[in-house]
Amino acid sequence: MTNLHRAQLIDRLPKAELHLHIEGSLEPELLFALAERNGVKIPFGSVEAVRAAYDFSNLQDFLDIYYQGMSVLLTEQDFFDLTWAYLERARADNVRHVEIFFDPQGHTERGVAFETALNGIEGALKAGEAELGISYRLIMCFLRHLSEEDAFATLEQALPHLERIHGVGLDSSELGHPPAKFARVFARARELGLHVTAHAGEEGPPDYVHEALDLLEVERIDHGNRALEDAALVQRIAEEGLTLTVCPLSNLKLCVIKDIAESPVKRMLDLGLKATVNSDDPAYFGGYIGANFHAVAEALDLSEAEVVRLAENSFTGSFLPMADQIAHLAEIAEVAGG
Ligand code: ADE
Ligand code: ZN
Repeated sequence: MTNLHRAQLIDRLPKAELHLHIEGSLEPELLFALAERNGVKIPFGSVEAVRAAYDFSNLQDFLDIYYQGMSVLLTEQDFFDLTWAYLERARADNVRHVEIFFDPQGHTERGVAFETALNGIEGALKAGEAELGISYRLIMCFLRHLSEEDAFATLEQALPHLERIHGVGLDSSELGHPPAKFARVFARARELGLHVTAHAGEEGPPDYVHEALDLLEVERIDHGNRALEDAALVQRIAEEGLTLTVCPLSNLKLCVIKDIAESPVKRMLDLGLKATVNSDDPAYFGGYIGANFHAVAEALDLSEAEVVRLAENSFTGSFLPMADQIAHLAEIAEVAGG
C-alpha cells in the first residue's frame, strides 16, 4: 500500500458525517458577507483578521468566538446559505449522509425565532437531498452552560416541529456542566421518540461519559476521548457497540491533544470501539471531514482496512434505517475492492 493509494481511497470512500455543528461551518468569507447584508457590526477588519483570531487554548476560548460569529445569522436565508455552503463542501468530500447539530438557544437568546433557524437549515438540507444526493438527520443541541429550565423551554419550542427534528444533543462548555443536569430533559426527549446523543469526555472526565450513558441513555457519544482513561468504561462502550464521534482537528485546535498523532482514533479501533471521524466546527478548526481523515491516516499511519472501517462506522453509527446502512456499506465495499 502506498500513501497515495490510501489518500485516493479516503477521497473516494462514501462517508457520513455525524458530528457537525452547522454554526461552526460559518467561514469567515460568509461571516463578512452576512454581516454586510444584515448591517451587523463585527469586531474584525478583514477575513485574515478573523482567521488570525482562531487561535484557541481550550473549548471556552473557542465558544466565546463561536457565539460571537452567530450574531450575523438573522434570516431564514442566512441559515439556508450557511447550510448550503456546508453541504456543497461536504459533497466534495464524498459525504452521502449528514447528521448535523444546531444550537437553537444560540439564536433565540438573540431574538431570532426558533422557526427562522429551523426553516432555513431544513430548507437547505432538503435541497441538498434533492440536488446533491445527501440524506440527513437534524439534531438540536441544548447549551449545557444554560439551565435545565431553559433546555425544557427549548424542547417546548420544538414540539410543533417534531417530524422535522430527529434528535437532541448536548453541547457547549462541558466542565462544570455534567450530563446529570439534563437527565429530566433527555428523559422527556426520549419519551417524545427523539434520538439522543451528547458531547462527553471532550474536556470532561470519564464520569461524564458514565453519566451520559446511565442518566441520558445516549445512543452515541460525541468526542469521548477521555473515556479511554477508564478501562471498565471502554469495555462497556465496546460491549454496547456505541459509536464515538471523534473530531481530530477540533481536538488539536482546542488543545485536547498536543499533536495530531495523539488522536485516539487508532487506539479506539484497536480496543474494538466504533470510532468515526468528523469535523465538528470546520470553519474554525481548519478542515472538513476529508482533511480530518487525511490528518489521522497520515499521523497514525492507518491501514486501508482501518480507513474503510472508519467509513463503515460512520454509516452503521448513523440513525439511518438498516436497509440504507447496508446499501452504503455495499458501496463502500465496491470502492474498497476496486
Ligand atoms: N459547540 C460547538 N462545537 C463544540 C464542541 N466541540 N464542544 C462543545 N460544544 C460545541
Ligand atoms: Zn461538537
